[in-house]
Amino acid sequence: MSKALDGIRILDFTHVQSGPTCTQLLAWFGADVIKVEKAGEGDATRGQLRDIPNVDSLYFTMLNHNKRSITLDTKKPMGKEVLEELIKQCDVMVENFAPGALDRMGFSWERIQEINPRIILASVKGFGPGPYEDCKVYENVAQCSGGAASTTGFEDGPPVVTGAQIGDSGTGLNLALGIVTALFQRETTGRGQKVMAAMQDAVLNLCRVKLRDQQRLDRTGELREYPQYPEMEFGEAVPRAGNASGGGQPGWILKCKGWQKDPNAYIYFITQAPVWPAICKIIGEEHWITDPQYATAEARLPHLKTIFARIEEWTKTKTKLEAMDILNEFDIPCGPILSMKEIAEDESLRATGTIVEVDHPQRGRSLSVGNPIKLSDSPTEVTRSPLLGEHTLEVLTQMGISQERIKQLQEARVI
Ligand code: COA
Repeated sequence: MSKALDGIRILDFTHVQSGPTCTQLLAWFGADVIKVEKAGEGDATRGQLRDIPNVDSLYFTMLNHNKRSITLDTKKPMGKEVLEELIKQCDVMVENFAPGALDRMGFSWERIQEINPRIILASVKGFGPGPYEDCKVYENVAQCSGGAASTTGFEDGPPVVTGAQIGDSGTGLNLALGIVTALFQRETTGRGQKVMAAMQDAVLNLCRVKLRDQQRLDRTGELREYPQYPEMEFGEAVPRAGNASGGGQPGWILKCKGWQKDPNAYIYFITQAPVWPAICKIIGEEHWITDPQYATAEARLPHLKTIFARIEEWTKTKTKLEAMDILNEFDIPCGPILSMKEIAEDESLRATGTIVEVDHPQRGRSLSVGNPIKLSDSPTEVTRSPLLGEHTLEVLTQMGISQERIKQLQEARVI
């Protein structure tokens, strides 16, 4: 079966996580992704957090599926010539170097357009234009500057970063959407364009409910669904909300049977208004259905701690999966806290290709996340990440570079 992005060639000048997630997604949709890496070194993540000596790390292999790898020293004049040829022959160039690195290499946007006016140049940077535009940024810097850390954690503790890589993989997703949108527009304009996704912007975009709450706090002085209400004073900024739901249906994480020994024996429980009578029946507090202190969602807000403590008495008598089964029978929204071990072993996630097992000549079989976006006419087949420079000769030959020239590039240690 054909793939959605068949025929699109991507010059993948990305490294670490944010850029590689973007190009991996495009590769999963069928684009030919050519990863350009520093000769001799490659993407730094190949060697980071290794679990097997001298073998590409899982960090690298899980971010670079379905790509081809070429090595090229783009700071040497002969390397720059090859890069120019690649720019001529590719539809998209993706990069996430530190600000200014591409310009220092001699490839400004103006120069790139001169070489190929149809090319799309897509960049991830930590910050957009402004006071921090020249800063290098990693995941947690973006989480801290995008509003996630100040609003995550418990009210009596410090800011907390989340395990979800919203700054890196989140920005990669935004960039991928920007690229396909620019490809779509090129159909009518015939021109490429510059696509930019800043990590701070991506995190803030995912934290929109907190910007909503800042304005509600400014106007009313309180956030009644937050755990601070009604006992504690609110300050000027949105506080950390613990496990409170970000939406209009209050929720909290509750202990389940076995919580004393199992750190993940918990369930997320949502007291959705339409199923309030069912919740009261299950926990044996039927009088709460009509009691004016509990009967309406508004009336319940000052009593959320009492309510969740009572529900927890019930959840503590069930395992998280038993509780899930019972609650789902009554359409009560809830979610067991699944450990990474449980997720790794989940057969249904493997059946859908959300988790895949991939073979690798050096490391053998390992798990990876597959494409989270499923297209009915463009199924994803996850293939292993390339070894460093595995496709250099293949790609250069395909580009029409003569064998003699390739030999010269090898002798000059450019590839
Ligand atoms: N041949 C020769 N040189 C190459 C090369 C190649 N194939 N590929 C990269 N380089 C050079 C770059 O030109 C740059 O040189 P310069 O500093 O002399 O201009 C150098 O390698 C290092 O690039 P840089 O991006 O600064 O890497 P770093 O390891 O110091 O910083 C980041 C890493 C992630 C902090 C930085 O790239 C960054 O802030 N990126 C933007 C935000 C981002 O994506 N962050 C998330 C990462 S998950």
